[in-house]
Amino acid sequence: MKKLIVLLLVLLTPSAFASSGHELQSATIDLGNKASLQRGAKYFVNYCLSCHSAKQLRYSRMAEDLDISPELVELNLMFTGEKIFDGMNISMRAKDAKKWFGVNPPDLSLIARSRGPDWLYTYLKSFYIDESRPFGVNNSLFPKVGMPHVLADLQGLQRAVYKEVETESGGVRQVIDKLEIVQPGKLTPREYDNAMNDLVNFMTYMGEPAKMERQRLGWKVLMFLFLMLVIFYYLKKEYWKDIH
Ligand code: HEC
Repeated sequence: MKKLIVLLLVLLTPSAFASSGHELQSATIDLGNKASLQRGAKYFVNYCLSCHSAKQLRYSRMAEDLDISPELVELNLMFTGEKIFDGMNISMRAKDAKKWFGVNPPDLSLIARSRGPDWLYTYLKSFYIDESRPFGVNNSLFPKVGMPHVLADLQGLQRAVYKEVETESGGVRQVIDKLEIVQPGKLTPREYDNAMNDLVNFMTYMGEPAKMERQRLGWKVLMFLFLMLVIFYYLKKEYWKDIH
């Protein structure tokens, strides 16, 4: 019963988060695009897996789903000394994480389901310089976030451009109008968008590695049901023939 309640909560949370008021940019999710998923996996293990785990995804499963040979996965995507059948764990201890960041970086296995792909895509593009924060950055979608801008070498650094809006009481308030790059990174803005799209695509896959399998299976099940329907229809005809 407890499990059921937790599951229900996980399934219901997107609507709870949707009301933040920040405009979301939409990511293009395509779980059939293996090349995009592979690039996303590379970003994930290189830039996220040092702090966040994704315990529910096994490396072996990822190798199979993404058409990467297990040897290549071990060589290029596994850095934490694990075995191919392990889930994506991290070696950082929770106690240390708490000390360094003030909060524990959450496991990201199900993050695409709880936050939604568009939220994640926007979040990864919303870091901006804010000297008042411990790591010198803030996030316009997730104010006072405890996470440093780990992708700054790719994106570069953004600063916030403010505008004034009238408050209900008639005063004025400064709100962020947009973010603009003040120090370019290795990628152009468009390349960064594509990279983040791949990463979010991968995280969406991660939240539901069974989805691809299910979609394949779904068709087979439908065909099977249709066949059964035909068979039963004629069986029924045969069966009732003499009674009418
Ligand atoms: C240096 C450690 C570190 C790295 C590397 C890192 N994060 Fe984080 N992340 C954090 C911490 C700490 C938090 C918790 C922030 C908070 O709650 O204030 C966080 C929070 C998040 C959240 C919000 C979770 C929520 O509350 O819904 C997301 C999404 C996220 N990280 C994604 C990523 C992705 C994607 C990457 C790789 C590109 C990444 N992180 C890399 C430390 C890190």
